[in-house]
Amino acid sequence: MQKLEVFGANKLKGEINISGSKNASLPILAASLLSSKKIYLKNLPKVKDIETMINLLKSLGSKIKFEKKILIIDNSSQNKKFASYNLVKTMRAGILVLGPLLAKFGNAKVSLPGGCAIGTRPVNIHLKALSKLGVKYKIVQGYVHANAPKGLIGSKIRFSKISVGATENLIIASCFAKGKTILSNCAIEPEIKDLVSFLKKMGCKIEWIKKRSIKIIGVNHTNEISYSVMFDRIEAGTYLVAAAVTEGNLKVKNIKPSVIKTETEILKKIGSKIIIKKKEIQIIGKKKIKGMRIKTAPYPGFPTDLQAQIMVLLCKANINSQIKEDIFENRFMHVAELNRMGAQISIKGNQASIKGNTIFKSAELMATDLRASVSLILAALAADGKSIINRIYHLDRGYENLEKKLKKVGARIKRIY
Ligand code: EPZ
Repeated sequence: MQKLEVFGANKLKGEINISGSKNASLPILAASLLSSKKIYLKNLPKVKDIETMINLLKSLGSKIKFEKKILIIDNSSQNKKFASYNLVKTMRAGILVLGPLLAKFGNAKVSLPGGCAIGTRPVNIHLKALSKLGVKYKIVQGYVHANAPKGLIGSKIRFSKISVGATENLIIASCFAKGKTILSNCAIEPEIKDLVSFLKKMGCKIEWIKKRSIKIIGVNHTNEISYSVMFDRIEAGTYLVAAAVTEGNLKVKNIKPSVIKTETEILKKIGSKIIIKKKEIQIIGKKKIKGMRIKTAPYPGFPTDLQAQIMVLLCKANINSQIKEDIFENRFMHVAELNRMGAQISIKGNQASIKGNTIFKSAELMATDLRASVSLILAALAADGKSIINRIYHLDRGYENLEKKLKKVGARIKRIY
């Protein structure tokens, strides 16, 4: 089992180029199933979850190849509608093939995603909304057996709760539904906007009619297109926090700063110096870190995917802080490991109380989920001495070339095989 060896403490200094967004690439790859024309995708991050989604598409009959960093997808002879547990269990976004398969074939058998470290990951909101498009489904032995005998019929649908995945699944499915579909109470994460831009370029008729409402008019054909996926805002946020934690001086490049305004405003309030340019943000971490009360929320609120990372920074604040995790039911798996490094964090329900003035101590650590793993690296970078982080396959799911990028800005980090 691979592990990471990290020597702290040192200040991160220099420039990091941000990769393409995992969470924009996954729904866009799923949506490619709608097209019977070739699709050329650029800026996909080389991370495990993307590899898994590509394997899932291949298992459905997609012809996929990489040429000079461009992924070429040909779904003209794609005809399978069975998404197996083996592939979906490791990457919950596999449920996103359900919408396009139903849109294209009118039936599908897709494994339920199953739970993970951060929660049970139900898909009830996806299924309830799909049934409003005329889909009949039953759950048999962990699989969704779904079909739409009369094809998908456009409808007015209001999500009972804001869900990124359900919004994505329904936008994709509605593109081929007969007539007009209005989705309201949608998630509006930037990755969803990127998915909509991709689908519109493909020829789908979609427009945002209100902040959280979208109108889709069904079509029955699409164009051959090439598309470049947006930057990964969570990767960008992670490195900004890493610079703040190590009192470093870092430029994060190839980004659209306005997309991460909430995060940069919080970092400014905490005491970091932030310089924003057209496609980059420079952050200068300060010794004095102010405590904060933070609540995770759907975009444009503070992202749950940065909660573990900002918690490390708040451990170093000059007063106590609180973090309320309002999105997932079990997203404090990193707390026990951070406490083993000298943090003093207590949990009550979905509220974490964080004592300030922590001096992190190096330790041997265990990663549990993608974002918790990276928070352990941030703490190890701030701690004196050598830390070891085990089960780093979690990291490889969502961070491209993490050690290489960190080494380039002065981190002493290496993978042990
Ligand atoms: C997406 O997950 C992201 N994954 C997550 O990032 C991210 O944390 C999450 O959105 C919230 O922003 C991808 O985009 C691939 P949700 P998703 O549906 O779609 C509940 C990462 O680290 N819910 O918005 O699964 C759900 O349990 C990952 O990159 C239902 O109850 O998130 C959760 O409590 C982790 N029923 C809340 O809603 C449903 O049918 C938000 O989930 C669907 C969701």
